[in-house]
Amino acid sequence: MARSASVHVCSQCGAQSLKWQGRCPSCAAWNTLVEEAVAPRGTVARPQHAAAGRRPRPLGEIGAAAVARLSTGIGELDRILGGGLVPGSLVLLGGSPGIGKSTLTGMALGNLARDGRRTLYVSGEESGEQVRLRAERLPEGALLVPALAETDLDTVLATLETERPEVCVIDSVQTLNAAGLSGGPGSVGQVREVAARIMELAKRRAIAVVLVGHVTKEGALAGPRVLEHLVDCVLQFEGERERPYRALRALKNRFGSTNDAGLFEMRQGGLVEVLDASARFVAEATRAPGSVLLAAMEGSRPLLVEVQALVSRSELDQPRRVASGLDRNRLAVVLAVLMRHAGVRVGGSDVFVNVVGGVRVDEPGADLAVALAVASAAAGRAPTDAPLACFGELGLTGELRWVGHPERRLAEAAKHGLGAPIAPPGSGPGAREISTLAHAVALAQGTAPVGRARAA
Ligand code: TYD
Ligand code: MG
Repeated sequence: MARSASVHVCSQCGAQSLKWQGRCPSCAAWNTLVEEAVAPRGTVARPQHAAAGRRPRPLGEIGAAAVARLSTGIGELDRILGGGLVPGSLVLLGGSPGIGKSTLTGMALGNLARDGRRTLYVSGEESGEQVRLRAERLPEGALLVPALAETDLDTVLATLETERPEVCVIDSVQTLNAAGLSGGPGSVGQVREVAARIMELAKRRAIAVVLVGHVTKEGALAGPRVLEHLVDCVLQFEGERERPYRALRALKNRFGSTNDAGLFEMRQGGLVEVLDASARFVAEATRAPGSVLLAAMEGSRPLLVEVQALVSRSELDQPRRVASGLDRNRLAVVLAVLMRHAGVRVGGSDVFVNVVGGVRVDEPGADLAVALAVASAAAGRAPTDAPLACFGELGLTGELRWVGHPERRLAEAAKHGLGAPIAPPGSGPGAREISTLAHAVALAQGTAPVGRARAA
């Protein structure tokens, strides 16, 4: 295909220009021009004939065919997908390098192959030998999977046509190269073109396709982001590379909920589902100064995780605020409320807060745990009845606010033998309901509360 078969389209205003420019000549937005194929081999071409109108039918009369799901044999993965892979659907599996995307997909294909399904693993980043070395470490079935080390999109599509697998993994979408586009593999235009053409074939041949995509910590590689609209399901695999725990969650799912997350542990023989993560985290909790247990919600399931804080005198003009496993801006808010409303002075100190195990807690209920962990670290004393469980959102005026599913959080804490958690008003029986952060800190640390009068 000739080079002129592509245009640059502004992702903001849709204006087209023939060459790439840093700034859109039409709407003046920066860095929004994305290369697009004009008519990539007829696949995404618009119909040329004059179309006749069709008569729409009421939704109730449209038969909803039960979708046959393909089980990956990995319970947590099936559950997050909404019951397994759907034929003809596209799943994007994102995650930073080394997190275990190839391991997870290799295991899933292995299980499917063992169950007699036709599978195909396309590797654009590793040689066949490298893929085999990984498969040797994985459970039986992994070595049955037909593999293809290839980066040319046309070759991959032709192979899919001849092999007709039921499930195919493309590892990774950034490494495939669509001929005819000037951007290199991994560029936004390339990634979009690759995904669009794979999707067309997947729908036509009812192949369930898993596209693996890299996302750096900063989200720097924009590739997978542009695919989110296109695919049916976006799964995010996250955790810290050095730590064994991995959380898999659905950010988008046309065939299931986006609420749930599954926890895995990276071991010698691949990924193992962690079925009772709370028990694990409670047993590992340090009970030291700065340690608090958060009764969190991981989607619709409760999860007890340890939140640790370290407060130390800073040598810097601008003390460091480091959060891992939670939002940095949220930490700043919690620290400000702690200082202003609970009299915990950390202004001249470096503050580090970490959710143990590489788990991420992005929910408002984490505020109180962060605050109590920092207060405990600042005092240099463990909470009086460690391990202390809690949950709750902080308001800017120092009040504790109700968060969702208190009964599930409390039941989880009770199930694992923890004392009554400190929680916001309205949380229900089994909680120590407290209405202000100052009181919560006092209760946790066994001190007299810092009144509003003193803070004012
Ligand atoms: P990998 O799946 O290659 O990550 P990704 O495809 O996301 O880049 O695996 C990442 C790490 O997992 C790698 O450093 C080796 C480790 N690993 C294990 O610890 N046990 C195993 O059984 C396997 C296959 C990998
Ligand atoms: Mg990989």
